[in-house]
Amino acid sequence: MEKLQQLYEGKAKKVFETDDPTLLIVEYKDDATAFNGEKRGTIRGKGVINNQMSNRLMQRLSQQGIPTHYVRELSERETLVKRVSIVPLEVIVRNIAAGSFSKRYGVTEGTVFDEPTEEFSYKNDALGDPLMAPDHALAMKLCTRAEMDKIRSFALKVNEVLSDFWRSCGITLVDFKLEFGRLDDGEIILADEISPDTCRLWDSVTGKKLDKDRFRQDLGGVEDAYAEVMDRLLSQDEA
Ligand code: TMP
Repeated sequence: MEKLQQLYEGKAKKVFETDDPTLLIVEYKDDATAFNGEKRGTIRGKGVINNQMSNRLMQRLSQQGIPTHYVRELSERETLVKRVSIVPLEVIVRNIAAGSFSKRYGVTEGTVFDEPTEEFSYKNDALGDPLMAPDHALAMKLCTRAEMDKIRSFALKVNEVLSDFWRSCGITLVDFKLEFGRLDDGEIILADEISPDTCRLWDSVTGKKLDKDRFRQDLGGVEDAYAEVMDRLLSQDEA
């Protein structure tokens, strides 16, 4: 399968058409941004890790009944995926207070919730991806009510599967962001990526941050943290 016309270049990935109109090739870059592109940098090796990690996690999720866009890994940085039209919502699930939740509500980072929370942001760079009430997403016709119900239940199921998996790797899944898309027949499937760019991952014993917060907060050791997460995933996947 060959890359044809580039369709899109985002902050962390490029997307190409293929000779099959239902399939696209995603290429992962080492570029990192934070705070809606205000902070920029490079995380060496990130593209390779995020590609391979996301693919393995998506395969695990599809075994657990979550449909995903993943088709086949083509190279270290490239994956063949199903073409979808993206629902312009970032779906965020949280188990523990951190990031914008802690900031917005003045809650100490690390406060553990009794139950996971779900929230949406409107995927719109010009507006800075604002938090969006579910009714507002429906009013904006970003998705139907039935699609929203499906997205929410998929997101909670993803949380269960990934929390269990990361726990087995000695990692606590603090929170994460998902994106969903529609196939031509209207089916909703999981798209985008699942990686240390899109999840908060803390060492279960020490609490050490092993995700993109090391870049966002200038904590250092960013590359090592991504590699550490990948090593733990691989040893667990092979076990
Ligand atoms: P937040 O606490 O900054 O709202 O982030 C919640 C989760 O979503 C966290 O795991 C990081 C992830 N995330 C993205 O994947 N992309 C983004 O643009 C933002 C702001 C957060």
